[in-house]
Amino acid sequence: MTRCSVRPSPTTEAVTVQRIGIIGVGEIGRAIVMGLRHGEEPGPEVLLSPRGARIAAELAERYDGVRVCADNQEVVDGSDLVVVALRRQDWRAALAGLVVPDDRVVVNVIPGVASEELRRVLATGAALTHAIPLPTVRERRCLTVVQPSHPDADALFELLGGALPVADEAALNVLSAVTSTQTTHYAFLATLVSWATDQGIPVADADRFVRGLYQDVGRSLADGTRSLERLAAEHETPGGSNERVRTTWFDQANSGALRGTLDGLVGDLHGGHR
Ligand SMILES: NC(=O)c1ccc[n+]([C@@H]2O[C@H](COP(=O)([O-])OP(=O)(O)OC[C@H]3O[C@@H](n4cnc5c(N)ncnc54)[C@H](OP(=O)(O)O)[C@@H]3O)[C@@H](O)[C@H]2O)c1
Repeated sequence: MTRCSVRPSPTTEAVTVQRIGIIGVGEIGRAIVMGLRHGEEPGPEVLLSPRGARIAAELAERYDGVRVCADNQEVVDGSDLVVVALRRQDWRAALAGLVVPDDRVVVNVIPGVASEELRRVLATGAALTHAIPLPTVRERRCLTVVQPSHPDADALFELLGGALPVADEAALNVLSAVTSTQTTHYAFLATLVSWATDQGIPVADADRFVRGLYQDVGRSLADGTRSLERLAAEHETPGGSNERVRTTWFDQANSGALRGTLDGLVGDLHGGHR
């Protein structure tokens, strides 16, 4: 068996998870495996469900200590901590009938599936944790929301970029809704490129310029000592063009519409829809 620790953060207790199972090997499952193998240290043994077969086979081929199991029960049987990375529409059928011993830790990453609901289906006394890892766990750059905190789950996500334990499922759903704005952000940038192109700027130039502009925003965000309001103020001349766009386009109606959409998302997550 490959023995390795999921390194704890300086603030979490030292924990050792030797074997991590993943049920549902798609985008997020793959990102977690890549994150576990991103560092110099040997990673824990990783057991993969047979679906999705193509990604699971690629990962087993690429990394030592990663293997594909015959079925989901074998994943549970061979793991200390099991990540459930299934799509909403698949999770009940995939998990029905699985026997999950009480000494396992189950990390559920499906939005809108509360731990209580998962426990009913699994009928287990195992520790259940809900988390929102994003694809950047692959480079250990994702701060992952975890609820409730559990030493093994926290240590896993600390390794993958940071763990952010929150108080309850309601808080997790709020931050889950926030993650749903990412593709809109990309669409916003694509609209800037498209508009500049319509004005006659070559698309490659517009694309390069917009990316540079917003990489600068990303770098500014990395400085946690400056508030978002201060960052905005530093980029805005009173009466200038940034202020004009902010107040005429991102006006109260627009920001209100965004808030309304987020309220709706949280309501659906709370009600178990998505
Ligand atoms: N992608 C993200 O950025 C992100 C972020 C946060 C949370 N999530 C959540 O994480 C979950 C997974 O997302 P994803 O993007 O990784 O989805 P995905 O790429 O569609 O992966 C889901 C995987 O589950 C597999 N699967 C289906 N039925 C199964 C079964 N009975 N047993 C074992 N595996 C089975 C699928 O296999 P087949 O291909 O063979 O069907 C597929 O490989 C979703 O609930 C999603 O909402 C995703």
